[in-house]
Amino acid sequence: MSEIYTVPSRVTAGSPNAITDLDAYREHWAKAQRDPDGFWLRETRSRIAWRTPPTQGLEGNYHDIAEGPIRWYADGTLNVTESCLDRHLSDRGDKVAILWEGDEPSDIQRITYRELHAKVCQASNALKAMGVGRGDRVIIYMGMVPEAAVAMLACARIGAIHSVVFGGFSAEAVRDRCIDCDAKAIITQDEGLRGSKTIPLKATVDAALESGGPVKQVLVFKRTGGEVGWTEGRDHWWHEVVDSASTSCEAEILGAEDPLFILYTSGSTGKPKGVVHTCGGYITYTSYTHETVFDLREDDVYACVADVGWITGHSYIVYGPLANGATTLMFESIPTYPDAGRYWDMVARHKINIFYTAPTAIRALAAQGDDHVKKHDRSSLRVLGTVGEPINPAAWEWYYNVVGEGECNIVDTWWQTETGGIAITPIAPATPTAPGSATLPMPGIMPQLMTPEGRVIIGPGEGLLCLAHPWPGQARTVWGDHPRFVKTYFEHFPGLYFTGDGCKRDELGYHWITGRVDDVINVSGHRMGTAEFESVLVSQGAVAEAGVVGFPHPIKGQGVYAYIVLEPGQTWSDDVVAALNQACREQIGAHAKVDLYQHVPGLPKTRSGKVMRRILRKVAEGEPEALGDVSTLADPSVVEAIIAGAKSV
Ligand code: PRX
Repeated sequence: MSEIYTVPSRVTAGSPNAITDLDAYREHWAKAQRDPDGFWLRETRSRIAWRTPPTQGLEGNYHDIAEGPIRWYADGTLNVTESCLDRHLSDRGDKVAILWEGDEPSDIQRITYRELHAKVCQASNALKAMGVGRGDRVIIYMGMVPEAAVAMLACARIGAIHSVVFGGFSAEAVRDRCIDCDAKAIITQDEGLRGSKTIPLKATVDAALESGGPVKQVLVFKRTGGEVGWTEGRDHWWHEVVDSASTSCEAEILGAEDPLFILYTSGSTGKPKGVVHTCGGYITYTSYTHETVFDLREDDVYACVADVGWITGHSYIVYGPLANGATTLMFESIPTYPDAGRYWDMVARHKINIFYTAPTAIRALAAQGDDHVKKHDRSSLRVLGTVGEPINPAAWEWYYNVVGEGECNIVDTWWQTETGGIAITPIAPATPTAPGSATLPMPGIMPQLMTPEGRVIIGPGEGLLCLAHPWPGQARTVWGDHPRFVKTYFEHFPGLYFTGDGCKRDELGYHWITGRVDDVINVSGHRMGTAEFESVLVSQGAVAEAGVVGFPHPIKGQGVYAYIVLEPGQTWSDDVVAALNQACREQIGAHAKVDLYQHVPGLPKTRSGKVMRRILRKVAEGEPEALGDVSTLADPSVVEAIIAGAKSV
């Protein structure tokens, strides 16, 4: 059994609602299991500003999900921005809501709750004047500027449904999303700024809209002042239409189950799907988990250094922290600019108490040596969070011993775009930790490990991770395609939500996530579908077939390995590789990079023509000896060639 770390004394419970120790945690968990409706009604009433408080908990269940989405709090009405802004004005009006640090460390803004409320009202009024209203979809394609959060909240305030697209995605990806959700408007900025490099956000939007489509209005925040193209009548400068708008705007009152946002995420097959989160359940769950997991205290400076383009940014930079009246940091830059000490320099300057990042960043920074950490004062830190991919014990221990000096608890938070918020995690003041384990489920989360054949695994064991009972923060559907939602998550094991992850459970009941068991890969915490890569690669004329899998990568967690079969008469060359790289960049985005290419004579197929992906995976993982049963292969010589030419980093 692995080493267990008890909770350091600096972390002992401090918030009024804290779960103080493991016994208290078990009590909460049991209460939520016995009476989920009672548990979640109490939580929502105590933490959310409802206009009409709900009297109902859950409606629907996983068995009947094909008939329609589950619902929580269905008779309640609210606007989530009243929980995130208005109700803080009386006692937290002058408290810093957003602490923004720009690309340059000296570029800092402190926006109070009163100021944020005013800015959100202005942006809401500007959107309304542009003809955007309740139920309309708005794409947000921005860097990490406070205006990105303002844009999200402004949509929420007027009842529009935002869909944030990470600023690394290409014009084609932006266009696909606009079309899929039939977006009326895009909010963007002239350029992004990261590590002193500019990112041409407005130019990408222009390219995305070149071929027409549903978007009629573009709102552009000026960040760098760089030259941008302009389409009169369609494009509006933020400083012209937002800054002059009224600072008061009545919130649109919505039903609990009205959509709050759509976030596109990759799966095993097809194009990314638009995961839909709704107002009442999502805001309840993000508020509850943010306060409980991190043991948030009134005076904490809380820093999650993710990007608002991913679910982590939605739930734990914007919605959860603001619902809890926290001071939340937004960070525009990268961890290595101007040097690899940037995070710890920020910790020292802002006296950050809670710091939340991804294993990729931890591994990359650990590789730069301890001096970058040690020269900055980190005594303010209490809780260190990690999210997005499994953390290897060596990285965990570096985070714990070097960054936290053994005084902070590490919360390894397992969750997904679809879970809306943290689902399996240590609770900072309560849960002893084990390096590499996400430990125990949140109250209300009921994990179940299954064998591939559908047998429940009781006690210690390894299997496929499912969740057995709905919780308020879970995704309700896929935008415009409920059957796809049902098929993706609820068909493998009837009555259970299937996460797509493998998981071990030990004698303590601790959970150890082993990674995706489907055709999704997780590169530096970015979730990508192998099918998306394959469809780009085969769209290139020289390529006959492509097979893409993940492989273990020392820094990125997983890397992308592409097996390429060329058309007859084509030859493998650096030019072919350059063309394939460019195609991935243009059709998916700058973050979609193949790490290793292998030119192969064919893909391993069964006699019925199905690609044996297991073989591609094992060879890419450097374990060709573990291929298993290959007796159904149509042409065994293909496998010999693949093994002989295998690449590694
Ligand atoms: O495989 C799991 C991994 O990330 C996947 C979800 O990706 P995404 O929807 O992009 O959300 C990432 C941020 C919540 C999961 O299916 N994952 C996430 N957190 C962890 C993790 N794997 C292991 N440990 C974690 N703490």
